[in-house]
Amino acid sequence: MFTKKTIKDIDLRGKTVLLRADYNVPLDNGKITDDYRIKQSLPTIHYLLAHGVKLIICSHLGRPSGPSDVENSLFPVAKRLQQLLDQPVAFATDCVGAPATKAAKALKAGQVLLLENLRFHPEEEANDPTFAKELASLADIFVQDGFGVVHRAHASTEAVTHFLPAVAGLLLEKEVDTITTVMEQPERPLMAIVGGAKIADKIDILHRFIEIADFIAIGGAMANTFLAAQGIEVADSLYAKADVPIAKDLLRRAGREARQRPFIFAIPRDAVVASGIDPKKPTRIVDFSAHVIADIESYPKRPANSASRLLSHEKILDIGPFSGSFIAGGVQLSKTVIWNGTMGVTETVGLQGPVGPYSHGTSLVVDALLGEFGHKPFTVVGGGDTVGYVESRNLVKAFGHVSTGGGASLELMGGRKLPGVEALVDKV
Ligand code: 3PG
Repeated sequence: MFTKKTIKDIDLRGKTVLLRADYNVPLDNGKITDDYRIKQSLPTIHYLLAHGVKLIICSHLGRPSGPSDVENSLFPVAKRLQQLLDQPVAFATDCVGAPATKAAKALKAGQVLLLENLRFHPEEEANDPTFAKELASLADIFVQDGFGVVHRAHASTEAVTHFLPAVAGLLLEKEVDTITTVMEQPERPLMAIVGGAKIADKIDILHRFIEIADFIAIGGAMANTFLAAQGIEVADSLYAKADVPIAKDLLRRAGREARQRPFIFAIPRDAVVASGIDPKKPTRIVDFSAHVIADIESYPKRPANSASRLLSHEKILDIGPFSGSFIAGGVQLSKTVIWNGTMGVTETVGLQGPVGPYSHGTSLVVDALLGEFGHKPFTVVGGGDTVGYVESRNLVKAFGHVSTGGGASLELMGGRKLPGVEALVDKV
């Protein structure tokens, strides 16, 4: 249960609200390519406006090198927000100082102002109290709704709460509530499907999943490191050599767990490989099961044939059909699934259409998650890239919960405290 006060617990009448959103959205030449985070902030904004507040919104965008970094201006976000709200959104060219105070003073009840990128001031990331006080001086109440950034102790997530009554917005409440519930009281069986590039980024959640999940399936480039840890030659594939000892440790822990209770930790048994990321290059399936089923210790003494071995110039670009089906089968047996990370290089589009040659594993898993084989578990989709994939296929509404947080959702799932949530006023 969410233990912090929210906008529903306080009197908003006649107040000026400083709302921290996470509008760190992808931009291409000043055009927003994915507005999921903006759309997800709307329920809180509508609620606040319906209660007649003067609304000042602040956010960061990217990791700018200074105020002159116009590529990271939030101005395109103000335009998009204006369209989505169907009302004017004023824009202040700085988040503090004269531009901000002047624009804030001009606001009337029911009106919206967006401040320029907080990170144009290094004081933001330094959690600087003077900067936070200046920001706080614009409003009467602080509302934290930027779930994607609450794992950072920055001026607009932590220090600002020392100067204003600080409560949660509806998105933050929903995110923390949903993720905490699936981690602490999931409907079982619970499955975790974990992809992405680096194991090091996900050690905490992998350990936590080994404790709580019934089935863990690994895909993406991360799986290559696990394969390498099993002694399988991954040739030219992307993998994190430095993480091999971590992978070995996780495999040992998973093995111990599996001896104590019904538990599956699955790394790919086959893969789609090619000599480069290029849809024109032919792909083939490499089946590692000979190595995995047979005595691993004997590898590489037992030479594998080319169907079970990568050639030195080949890369693993997706899980193979056996692995995809095995994961899809696990999904069919699960009541709750946490999915973080695609199974292959889904960004590459195909020669004949948008479905690329290394997307089939992910597509199969997504079909299973969405009930194409008959059973649809409650699925929480976490992590930035996974959300990008789901958005690109227009499937956001089809899942139980699609998190707006990348790092924040990983930290919450990993059991870490989030400074931006801890700083809010407790419900009594
Ligand atoms: C994110 O996109 O994960 C958040 O907006 C946080 O951004 P950051 O990693 O640059 O702090």
